[in-house]
Amino acid sequence: MTVQASAPGKVILFGEHAVVYGKHAIAGALGLRANVTLSPARESSLEIADLEIDSPIAQDANPGSLHCFFKAGIDLLDLPPVRIVVDSDVPIGGGLGSSAAMACAFLKAAGALKKIELGPQELWKKAQEMEKVFHGTPSGIDAAVSAHGGMIEFCAGKISRFECPEVPLLIGDTGVSKNTKQNVSRVRILYDSDRQKTEAILDEIDRISLAGKQALVRNDLKALGKLMGRNHALLKKLGVSSSELDDLVSAAVKAGALGAKMTGGGGGGCMIAVAQELDAVSKAIEDAGGKVLETKFALAGARVDSKY
Ligand code: MEV
Repeated sequence: MTVQASAPGKVILFGEHAVVYGKHAIAGALGLRANVTLSPARESSLEIADLEIDSPIAQDANPGSLHCFFKAGIDLLDLPPVRIVVDSDVPIGGGLGSSAAMACAFLKAAGALKKIELGPQELWKKAQEMEKVFHGTPSGIDAAVSAHGGMIEFCAGKISRFECPEVPLLIGDTGVSKNTKQNVSRVRILYDSDRQKTEAILDEIDRISLAGKQALVRNDLKALGKLMGRNHALLKKLGVSSSELDDLVSAAVKAGALGAKMTGGGGGGCMIAVAQELDAVSKAIEDAGGKVLETKFALAGARVDSKY
């Protein structure tokens, strides 16, 4: 039997990096999804056409590689040899949770092959194990959003879904690959060298995340935008933004966005902006060298799409 499953990418609205230290973060699942097709084979292999990958998954796959990532998934479910084909609308390495989306889609499909129903919570825990291949201490927020879908408040492993009105949001991709692992270590070094100052920044981000959730629920876009601007300034203080991200954020704000910030691991990847005049802001982001991604928040978490 061949199984195809999918899971959404995510946008972190507030709280990236601080969430690694047990602070609150707010994120939403996107309409962009990673699709994974599994079919029984003589030996396990991985195909990702976008990355020009099509090769066997060796026992000694390189640590930190995509092959090693999927091998961890195969081992977790004790799966017999499979051909894994990945087709992702979520840009890989763009800070939109592509690895968590691939992990959740893979595990959902693998569960169906083994005839085990993996609910969102179990999927989340297992996807976390796969995510560790890429960065050792994931907070779990990316996999939580991919597994559950919808809008999520996340704090120290506690996942709470909530509802809010549609947000007029734009995503701008710098085109520069982000480096979550390196940026997570950068914050750790700062934390270890000046704990008091770093803790104060992380605490302020925590308060912003909680206020941001309230603004989302009240549909108070002005407050939401202001809080995003404050969160971006604090992420800059943590040293995880980049000149490309800052340029896109300033361009969006100059063009009338109510607020903008980097999203995810940073150092590259994507930024987000909330705006009433989406067209003007979208043009400004493109003029500043970014690529605007068309998508919306979505409710669906990981799911099996077809079996044949
Ligand atoms: C990455 O999408 C979000 C970070 O906070 C890392 C994590 O939460 O594991 C940067």
